[in-house]
Amino acid sequence: MRDLSWPAKVYLFAVIGAATALFAHSLITKGQLVASESLGILLVLALLFLVCESMPTLLNVEQFAVSVSFSAALAAVVLIGMEGAALVGLTAVLSVRPGLPLIKRLFNGAQFALCGYAAGWVYQQLGGVSGVPQVNAFDDLIGPYAAATAVFVPLNIVLTLTMISLATQVSAGEVPMRGMVQFLLTYLGYGTFGLLVAGLWATIQSISAVLVLLPLFVARWAFGQYHAQQRSYDATMAALCQAVETKDYYTRGHCTRVSLASTMIAQEIGMGMDRLRAIRYAGMLHDVGKLGVPTKVLQKEGPLTEEEFAAIQLHPMRGLEIVRGIDFLDEAFAGIMHHHERHDGKGYPMGLAGPEIPEFARVIAVADAFDSMTSDRSYRGARPVEVAVDELERGAGTQFDPVMVAAFIKALERNPWQPQRRVEPPPEDAATIKDHDDPTMPIQVVTGQ
Ligand SMILES: [Fe+2]
Repeated sequence: MRDLSWPAKVYLFAVIGAATALFAHSLITKGQLVASESLGILLVLALLFLVCESMPTLLNVEQFAVSVSFSAALAAVVLIGMEGAALVGLTAVLSVRPGLPLIKRLFNGAQFALCGYAAGWVYQQLGGVSGVPQVNAFDDLIGPYAAATAVFVPLNIVLTLTMISLATQVSAGEVPMRGMVQFLLTYLGYGTFGLLVAGLWATIQSISAVLVLLPLFVARWAFGQYHAQQRSYDATMAALCQAVETKDYYTRGHCTRVSLASTMIAQEIGMGMDRLRAIRYAGMLHDVGKLGVPTKVLQKEGPLTEEEFAAIQLHPMRGLEIVRGIDFLDEAFAGIMHHHERHDGKGYPMGLAGPEIPEFARVIAVADAFDSMTSDRSYRGARPVEVAVDELERGAGTQFDPVMVAAFIKALERNPWQPQRRVEPPPEDAATIKDHDDPTMPIQVVTGQ
């Protein structure tokens, strides 16, 4: 609480205050929040809400944990009215989530209660009747219920996003728009389950809630497992990156930036979601084969002998050997293996040319050279982005695939590159004198030594 900024505190108390005021108003004007004959329904839906809310699914969108609990609150809109829906939402305060601070619980409960009130009010205004629906009256519920869902879900997202942006200083605009639209549509779809619960209540009462929401809950749990798996893949990739970068002081952060630049190019040329993930991994792991190159060769000052240069040229093959067993890398293998091929066929390890070079490798080659040029090296400072772009244009058609260079330049116009922070000079024994990725300072090889 102490860490929260003033605007965040004001917002927090405003949401909690608004929910408290609404409950107080209902109590004063109606004398009770829920009719005594509806207490059983309230209890079942509140329990269901609580179970779902206690086991949220962590999404890839940072800081988002979502649950299917709101379907229970929407069912309450139909079965017990707006106060009932607000009370069901309020049970978020009691959710079993160890370590969740009281203030967050209060905020969650209050914002769900507000959403319940708003959805219930819209439902009533559009002629929706509260109570267990009869079969012949079911059609009349659909319109008001759809409107209630269309209010509940976006309001829930707006209230939560505002809190997140005030508490973390991350502007809501920085949350990926595509992810948000997907999130919103998915939840509007899930809203229909609340209607199913309400519709079935007339025949199978409380079992309807379990029957409808339990499979949904299990599906969400499985989805959460999938995301947990993705996060562990990412952590594995990051660990491998870290291992490479500890061998090569001046290339810290290089894997991550090549991954980012590769993804920018891949998006620009219209790669699908699966390939985007694979190329993100390929960018991170493109130099993993450096683990198989002696550190003294990577860090050698001055010209390399032919043997030493041959050892460096082996790193794409070594990389492939290291990660070959990781089956989810899929197309990333080709990117790792061929990222030093050149468009004119003068690259390594196989001397492939033009379209013979796998697409992933053509993308990574551009991203790799660009990041190398725009980062500090021991033998020179970082080049400005414009200079690196000129260099890429100069190499288009000889070293690089011109399509990938053009795509990267277009992507850079939309999302300007954030130059790397200056690298402090490393301790004496950690300096690398030359970078094999830097097209402006090719490695010198001396023959006959
Ligand atoms: Fe490399």
